[in-house]
Amino acid sequence: RSVHSALTRGSSQISRRGYGSEAVPERKVAILGAAGGIGQPLSLLMKLNPLVSNLALYDLAATPGVAADVSHINTRSEVAGYQGEEELGKALEGSDVVIIPAGVPRKPGMTRDDLFNINAGIVKNLCTAIAKYCPNALVNMISNPVNSTVPIAAEVFKKAGTYNEKRLFGVTTLDVVRAKTFYAGKAKVPVAEVIVPVVGGHAGITILPLFSQATPNGNLTEEYIKALTKRTQDGGTEVVEAKAGKGSATLSMAYAGAIFADACLKGLNGVPDVVECSFVQSSVTELPFFASKVRLGKNGVEEVLGLGPLSDFEKQGLESLKPELQSSIEKGIKFANQS
Ligand code: NAI
Repeated sequence: RSVHSALTRGSSQISRRGYGSEAVPERKVAILGAAGGIGQPLSLLMKLNPLVSNLALYDLAATPGVAADVSHINTRSEVAGYQGEEELGKALEGSDVVIIPAGVPRKPGMTRDDLFNINAGIVKNLCTAIAKYCPNALVNMISNPVNSTVPIAAEVFKKAGTYNEKRLFGVTTLDVVRAKTFYAGKAKVPVAEVIVPVVGGHAGITILPLFSQATPNGNLTEEYIKALTKRTQDGGTEVVEAKAGKGSATLSMAYAGAIFADACLKGLNGVPDVVECSFVQSSVTELPFFASKVRLGKNGVEEVLGLGPLSDFEKQGLESLKPELQSSIEKGIKFANQS
C-alpha cells in the first residue's frame, strides 16, 4: 500500500505503480479537524501519500502551524492551512476526498453515543459546507458516533440535493486494522498477510469481525474466536482507558484513515480491485446503512459486496447488533431533520 510503501521505498517509484506511463492525476484531499489528535498524524500520513497533489488542512484553530510544519516535507503535495469557519469554503473547493475527524473524542466511561450531542452538530455544519463547495467529493467520516454521523451526512446532502450514496463512507478501517492485529497475535500467522472482514457498524457489539473468513487460517477454537471478537469490539475502549482521560485512539486511527483515503484515491484513479470495509448505504441487510466489503472505483462505491458465509456465532452476532445499529441510524436521521 502506498502509504507505508512510500516510507520505505521512495515515492517516485510508487507513484507510477498501477498507472503505466501516464502521469498520476491531480487529487485534492481536505482534512477537517486537521489540528486534532487524529488530524495531525493523519495530515502527516496524507502528506506522504504520492497520490495527493493538494492537501488542505482545516480546523477551528492551529492549522497554520500544522500546515507550515507538514509542508516542509519533501513529497509531492502542496499543503495549505485554513483556520476558522470563514476559510472552510476555500479549504473544501475542488476537493476529491474530504476526511472528517472533527469533533470530541471519548473519555473513560463514555460510549461513542455519548458524543452525539456535540459531534452531530459539527458534522451537520461541515456537511452543509461540503454540499456547497465540493458536492462531488468522496466523504470519509471518522467523527463518532459513525453509526449516526453517516446517516446525518446523508440527510444533509439529501436536503441540499447533492446526495450520492456512492460518495459517503463511514470509516471503519480501524476495526479491520485491530481485527488483523489481534488475530495474527493469537493465530501466530504473519500480521501483514492477514485479511479479516469486519461488518455491521462502528460501536460496541455493532462491530462484527468475521473471523470465520480470516486468512491465513489459524484454526482457532471457538473460545479464542469469541475472545478475539470481544477484544475487537472493545478495542477503542482499551485505548480510551489506557489514555486515562487524554482521549481515544489517534495514531492507529490516523493510520487506518490514511489507508482508507488511499483506497478511495486509488479507486478514483481507476486502479482495479480496490476493496475495503466501510459503513455505507447498503441493501446487504434490511438496515439502510451497514458496513461490509466495498469495491471502490472512479465514482466511489463501485459495488457493495455481500457478507459471505457466516458461522453460527457470527449469525447470532449479526442478529444481536441490528436493533442497536437501527436505532443509532434513526437517531442520526431524526437529528438531521429536526434541527
Ligand atoms: P481531538 O479533540 O483531539 O481533535 C478534534 C479536532 O476537531 C480538534 O482539533 C477540534 O478543534 C476540531 N474541531 C472541533 N469542531 C470542529 C469544527 N466545527 N470544524 C473543524 N474542526 C473542528 O479528537 P480526536 O481524538 O482527533 O478524535 C476526533 C473524532 O474522531 C472523535 O469524534 C472521535 O470519537 C473519532 N474517532 C473515530 C474513530 C473511528 O474509528 N472512526 C476512532 C477514533 C476516534
